[in-house]
Amino acid sequence: MKHFYITTPIYYVNDVPHLGHAYTTMAADALARFHRMRGEETLLITGTDEHGQKVEEAAKKRGLAPRALVDQVSQRFVETWKALGIEVDDFIRTTEARHQKVVHDLWRRIEAAGDLYLATYEGWYCVGCEAFYTESQLDKEGDTWHCQIHKRPVDWVAKERSWFFRMSSYGQKLLDHIEKHPHFIQPEAYRKEVVAFVKTGLRDLSVSRTSFDWGIPVPSPDPQGLSHVIYVWMDALVNYMSALGDRWPATCHLIGKDILRFHAVYWPCFLMSAGLPLPRTIFTHGWWTVRGEKISKSMPATRIAPLDLAGQLGPHDFEIGVDAMRYYLLRETPLGNDGDFTFESLFARYNADLANDLGNLISRSLTMVGKFAEQAPPRRGVLPDGELERVAAVTVRDAATHLEGYAPSRALEVIWQLVREANRYIDTTQPWVIARDVTRAGELGHVLGTLLATLWTIARLIAPVLPATSRHLRDWIGDEAPLHWPGDAPLAEAPATLRASAPRPLFPRLDDKRQHAIVSAIVPPEAAAAPAAPPSARPAPSAPSASAAPPSARPERGPEGAESKGGPSGPITFEDFTKVELRVGLVTAAVKVPKADKLLHLTVDLGEAAPRSIVAGIAERFAPDEMVGRRVLVVANLAPRKMRGIESQGMILAAGDDTILGLAGVGDDVPPGTRVR
Ligand code: MSP
Repeated sequence: MKHFYITTPIYYVNDVPHLGHAYTTMAADALARFHRMRGEETLLITGTDEHGQKVEEAAKKRGLAPRALVDQVSQRFVETWKALGIEVDDFIRTTEARHQKVVHDLWRRIEAAGDLYLATYEGWYCVGCEAFYTESQLDKEGDTWHCQIHKRPVDWVAKERSWFFRMSSYGQKLLDHIEKHPHFIQPEAYRKEVVAFVKTGLRDLSVSRTSFDWGIPVPSPDPQGLSHVIYVWMDALVNYMSALGDRWPATCHLIGKDILRFHAVYWPCFLMSAGLPLPRTIFTHGWWTVRGEKISKSMPATRIAPLDLAGQLGPHDFEIGVDAMRYYLLRETPLGNDGDFTFESLFARYNADLANDLGNLISRSLTMVGKFAEQAPPRRGVLPDGELERVAAVTVRDAATHLEGYAPSRALEVIWQLVREANRYIDTTQPWVIARDVTRAGELGHVLGTLLATLWTIARLIAPVLPATSRHLRDWIGDEAPLHWPGDAPLAEAPATLRASAPRPLFPRLDDKRQHAIVSAIVPPEAAAAPAAPPSARPAPSAPSASAAPPSARPERGPEGAESKGGPSGPITFEDFTKVELRVGLVTAAVKVPKADKLLHLTVDLGEAAPRSIVAGIAERFAPDEMVGRRVLVVANLAPRKMRGIESQGMILAAGDDTILGLAGVGDDVPPGTRVR
């Protein structure tokens, strides 16, 4: 049986899932769904990368033990993929025992091949990348060397004893493999990049660390008695084998361009040394920026939470919101290219392609069939359907070719040609005119039957990218058959038993007001002040300035664009300070705000007649239970404002920018309502 085993990178748990992670995972899910529909044995593997210095440091920063951090954040990834309807076959965590065993097996194979030796390492290390770099791979700014990806200074690792992997022995073998297997590294531009890199000569790679211990221990003894942990990339890459087991090798590692070298150079070299087969394809996609900015922790405006976006796009049907998000991300930019997320392009695609083309086709077709089916039972006869029949057949073939070739954007493009052709078919056949002439009942039944068969075809073609939309559509036409990809003559293949039930609008048009509301709900206030945001991507001036903001003690902004990072705008007078009324509050109740990862709804006693309702962006750091009974400091004279439909009557002081690190507080003996100055 043909198979398709696709993997996503395993995500670092120093960060919660954002749009970039969701992009890779949704793309992999769409491809996997397509292959499943083709009857192939299909597996989608994802997971979390939980070891290494970066994770250890992130835990320390949050005051957590690494184990606590990895358990917490890994769960966030599991939940996010579940909420997004991703069909995950195995979620692998590098802290699992089953993984450690496979890493040790690989280590021993490489050792047995004579490719490991002990020596001393010194050089530059980027903790963000978890990678050693030579100066030629870094940028110099003033006196410091900066990582080209993270744009931050790199660390100097001074003389650390380390196990080394003889990667230098594998350069030519890797080049030979790449040449013999043109599909190995895709798209072509990335294949060229790897070839050029390998041709400059591979150096032996340091594959263990002794300066920290959050990792898998090296199984070989060091005669000097030092304990080493395995380099996090060597550990992480093996996840694919841990998850696939006997089914190794993977058909495709889908990755972002930031991690090409690890996958297309290190990983194949490890596997060749261990005498194991290489993955069939490493497919590299580009990076999404958000309104021109790289998604990063220091730029809150770029941190679009996929669940929030889906919730906004499908306020009445979350799964439809997910479909809209998948459609935009997979249609807007070819998988290998970089993409820029803007609300303008999102709304334009939604309105033109989903609300207009697809939404209209579904509602017009079903309304028509519903209205005339008694008069003329839908049944395709011998009448030719000309263009529509031809376009349907070509679309089924071409969309499959594009999905097989990792080009979902091209697949959607051709599928939408069929959607438009079907709309044209209604315009030209004019069933409502045919219906007026009783002698044309056969013709009318044929047109109605053709519309149902076309919907049947489209419901299947869109299923990989728009699974919920497809399911609704199949329900409405009574298509209960297993979801396989259509054959060469789709309109003829559609069952004759299809019928129409009344649809409901899946993609209501987003008018200006709704667009505005979506932007306000998604864009944090920092973005509203960021010069990079185009006017239509900003909340209106009337929108409260701190709407989605974690209620940390954020300084008031100066004029728009004056500063974008949230630092103070300059000294303020004592009078300015006294305008802020700070009081001690006692939290008496706390619940999570539904569908808002960051928000808790608190009831806070300020010693007033009634307790206050306060919405605070601290849910990622504090569970509701931890908050009850706690004293907090509250900005008590902030104008009330609604967040997620809940009135917030104050702001809690919290430390930390994007990530909340702690809350400001006072001792338990200070009565609620006490003024703080
Ligand atoms: N843990 C490593 C991967 C180990 S795989 C053996 C890692 N993790 S990560 O959390 O940083 O996630 C990296 C992946 O997330 C990228 O390769 C890419 O697939 C996805 N993306 C993260 N940000 C992205 C964008 N801004 N745009 C597109 N994809 C992005 O690296």
